Amino acid sequence: MTSFWSIWVIVLTLACLLIIFGLLVWNLTNYTGVKEGESCGHEFDGIEELNNPLPKWWTYMFFATFVWAVYYLAAYPGLGNWEGLAKWTSSNQGITSLAESKKATEEAKANGEYVKLDKEYEAADERFGPIFEGFAKQDIESLVADEKALEIGQRLYAQNCSQCHGSDARGGMGFPNLTDKDWLYGGTPDKIKETLLYGRVAAMPPWGAALGEQGIKEMTAHVLSLSGRTVNQKDAKAGEAKFAMCAACHGADGKGSVAHNLPFGAPNLTDNIWLYGGSQRAVEETLLNGRAGVMPAWKDILGEDKVHLLTAYVYSLSQDK
Ligand code: HEC
Ligand code: HEC
Repeated sequence: MTSFWSIWVIVLTLACLLIIFGLLVWNLTNYTGVKEGESCGHEFDGIEELNNPLPKWWTYMFFATFVWAVYYLAAYPGLGNWEGLAKWTSSNQGITSLAESKKATEEAKANGEYVKLDKEYEAADERFGPIFEGFAKQDIESLVADEKALEIGQRLYAQNCSQCHGSDARGGMGFPNLTDKDWLYGGTPDKIKETLLYGRVAAMPPWGAALGEQGIKEMTAHVLSLSGRTVNQKDAKAGEAKFAMCAACHGADGKGSVAHNLPFGAPNLTDNIWLYGGSQRAVEETLLNGRAGVMPAWKDILGEDKVHLLTAYVYSLSQDK
């Protein structure tokens, strides 16, 4: 908050409290000039207004809430940027990385500020850790035949991966389908595990500047023709002539990084399976602006044992049953 808004909040909050307090005190004094219990002099439909004081229980409760409000504002941050006497904070804005978060957790533990969630995590690790360890000792091929292992893998998948790859693992726009045989980085257990442990960052450069508008149109025609789509032949030929600039990653035949044992994660352009959509518009957009899909790294988040089980689960999805 800037200091202007901080002062704004402080002034409004305190002014509000003061006004409410003033109203209460004012109502406790007899300002009508009429004696207590006597008529104020108006009558509505036969009902007379008497000058009765506020009920005591209600007045004391009002005072109590007032005292509570003042205590609460003093103890906890509620007044603009002021941090409060209890130095309590709900924000972790200073923490920007997993390493910092782990360090803060360690420090909190050392200070005895040990939250329930940490305890639950530890209890869960103690209880289930050995199960994951047991599975981690088996190779992927045997885990794929183990129903229990796949069941646990499926749950880990639902918790950690489904938000991007979908609950059925068929992916979506920008998120690869994990159930087919079309791989950006390879579908062997080793390659999948590498993807999960360390994450992947794709870098398809933008070609708008190098190709120009007409060049993008021609290259799009060529790319679409690679998967057998009907295109303007003249454009496709012109695109093909420039495909050398794409071959370093997609291979000279456009069959993608995996087919040529390259590490770039460039998709196969000949199979009519599209990560970013196969309409002319979508391919033009890909070429014009480039694409940069990011698969997060899970080594530090889940640990190797869980990643091992997840690898088995993901691997099982694309195997013919
Ligand atoms: C924040 C979104 C996100 C989450 C969460 C996520 N992924 Fe990914 N994942 C991606 C993206 C994006 C790619 C493609 C990267 C690229 O474009 O090259 C990818 C790629 C992959 C690949 C490589 C596919 C291939 O064709 O080579 C695998 C395998 C994979 N993810 C599995 C998982 C698993 C298992 C989890 C859960 C532990 C997971 N992902 C969680 C976004 C995500
Ligand atoms: C530096 C390596 C590299 C070069 C060079 C490169 N690409 Fe790519 N391309 C990639 C990667 C990596 C992806 C995947 C992007 C992602 O997953 O976010 C990709 C994705 C694509 C896609 C999207 C495919 C889909 O399934 O949606 C198309 C189309 C494409 N490239 C065409 C080309 C063309 C045409 C050229 C040459 C003008 C080219 N690329 C040059 C690395 C490259």
